[in-house]
Amino acid sequence: MSQLWKDPVYGPLAQGLYARCGLVFEGGQAHLFRKRVDRRAAELGYPSTAAYVAVLRGPLGETEYEHLIETLTVNETYFFREQEHFQLLIDKLWPGWTRDGNGPLRVWSAACSTGCEPYTLAILLRERRWVGPGRPRVEILATDVNTAVLRDAKSGLYGEFALRQVPPYYRDKYFRCEGGLYRLDPEVRRMVTFRRYNLLRPDGLLPPDGFHAVLCRNVLIYFDQEAKRKAVGGMVRALKPGGALIIGRSESLFSIPEAPPIENHDGLLIYRKPAPVR
Ligand SMILES: C[S@@+](CC[C@H](N)C(=O)[O-])C[C@H]1O[C@@H](n2cnc3c(N)ncnc32)[C@H](O)[C@@H]1O
Repeated sequence: MSQLWKDPVYGPLAQGLYARCGLVFEGGQAHLFRKRVDRRAAELGYPSTAAYVAVLRGPLGETEYEHLIETLTVNETYFFREQEHFQLLIDKLWPGWTRDGNGPLRVWSAACSTGCEPYTLAILLRERRWVGPGRPRVEILATDVNTAVLRDAKSGLYGEFALRQVPPYYRDKYFRCEGGLYRLDPEVRRMVTFRRYNLLRPDGLLPPDGFHAVLCRNVLIYFDQEAKRKAVGGMVRALKPGGALIIGRSESLFSIPEAPPIENHDGLLIYRKPAPVR
């Protein structure tokens, strides 16, 4: 049980957020949580944080929880992050999927933040000529629980920090400078569909015949064991047989029974849903 949950003021709120999106705030994160909740209560003019928390139990609660999710999720992301995953996906897995099937190739970026991850994939697929005449259709779905980051993702406008690992060739080719920011090429933007989706409250958004790959990088670290199991279970169900689940390099699905078998690609670990035996 999270320490924060025992706190008489912040505890119910922390539990409410956990129930809604699986986030757990421990150590330094708990401090940040208190600070941001206090700030929000003051912004709205409540005399105390306790008064604000009481309102969250009432009819306005859900809208306010939405706002808190926007304030409290960690949305750090950037283009070409953990690039080796894209290389593996495109150079090793993609050719097999292209050979085996005749439908579209589908990838789900399941906690996409401001979109750098699915857009990096879209850029690299174009560069490797997996997009275009004679190639299977590519569908990239990108989802997040935070609606504010999804708005930014759709705008395709980024600051220098998000581009810090983009090689000059890609910068020149795919970004246009606009008032000190960088606008991503509209053709790349059109390749990605953004939707709100909560990994812990699955709804009918996902295609019934599944994804070839699910990228869920750098979010499971914020979940506890139970939330991880739920999220991973949902993502594995959404994979086609033979499909790959790719998590962040610093993350692990150790002791998550829902995780598919692990595959080691020269030290890079991914999870692969078993394919039917032929
Ligand atoms: C650190 S970002 C990771 C972005 C990207 N995957 C990457 O690796 O660069 C984590 C994202 O997970 C999202 N998130 C947190 N809880 C979630 C949930 N229950 N369902 C969907 N997304 C969630 C956050 O809003 C945030 O944008």
